[in-house]
Amino acid sequence: MLNKLIGRKKSEQIKVDPVLQEFSKENIPEHIAIIMDGNGRWAKKRGLPRVAGHREGMNVIREIVRSSNELGVKVLTLYAFSTENWKRPKTEVDFLMRLPERFLGAELPSLIEENVVVRMTGEREKLPEYTKRAVDKAVDGTKQNNGLILNFALNYGSRSEIIDGIKSIYHEIDKGKINIKDVSEAILSEHLMTSDLDDPDLLIRTSGEIRLSNFMLWQLAYSEFWFTDVLWPDFSEEHLKEAISAYQNRQRRYGGV
Ligand code: FPP
Repeated sequence: MLNKLIGRKKSEQIKVDPVLQEFSKENIPEHIAIIMDGNGRWAKKRGLPRVAGHREGMNVIREIVRSSNELGVKVLTLYAFSTENWKRPKTEVDFLMRLPERFLGAELPSLIEENVVVRMTGEREKLPEYTKRAVDKAVDGTKQNNGLILNFALNYGSRSEIIDGIKSIYHEIDKGKINIKDVSEAILSEHLMTSDLDDPDLLIRTSGEIRLSNFMLWQLAYSEFWFTDVLWPDFSEEHLKEAISAYQNRQRRYGGV
């Protein structure tokens, strides 16, 4: 189009990568949430067991954390295990539950060095002891940092989170701490597991699925969504930049004009 407008001959035409053209270090989304989907299909395409896709998916996290940190993203939430994922075969669940130990066991020193803060959103109690131990060690080991917050959504389900939030508000009403007239969006946000985080600005889902799968239903009310057919183990820094560039070209109106 540009070539046509300025009358360039075919032989003189410049191919501009739309991503590099549009990507800007200004206006980086502060909170990016990712539904890391497609590990199973990635493995199947290669004739490998599903868990090989999860292992490769885990390796991708390193690159995405590093580039998010470099780009100045403040919070990166990764949907690593949903409350529905317990329905998978036991061997797969066991493998997934070992991943925090594997990942954080290898990466904790560099996460500390890179000023990353590790945290978790989800129902902690139901996790195996070894998963809790690995997460706790990383949370504790990075609590003095103040850079990128790497938030693992682990055993997380949004509907049950909202129900728990409502129950907790009810108890406070019952004890006279909150007046029912004062219950507001802000009050419910304060009673969710993400009470200390701003809502995601950008949601990315890989693998071509266009749904939320019970992920941050309340928090994503005004987020920009970006879907890609790329399977999570193939996701790279370039795809992240493509998503950010799409975000930068959106107009967030929050219902206004
Ligand atoms: C969905 O793909 C992916 C998951 C349920 C697990 C995601 C976990 C990781 C990428 C690694 C987590 C790492 C740490 C450190 C916690 P799928 O299995 O549903 O893929 P499919 O739709 O192709 O079958």
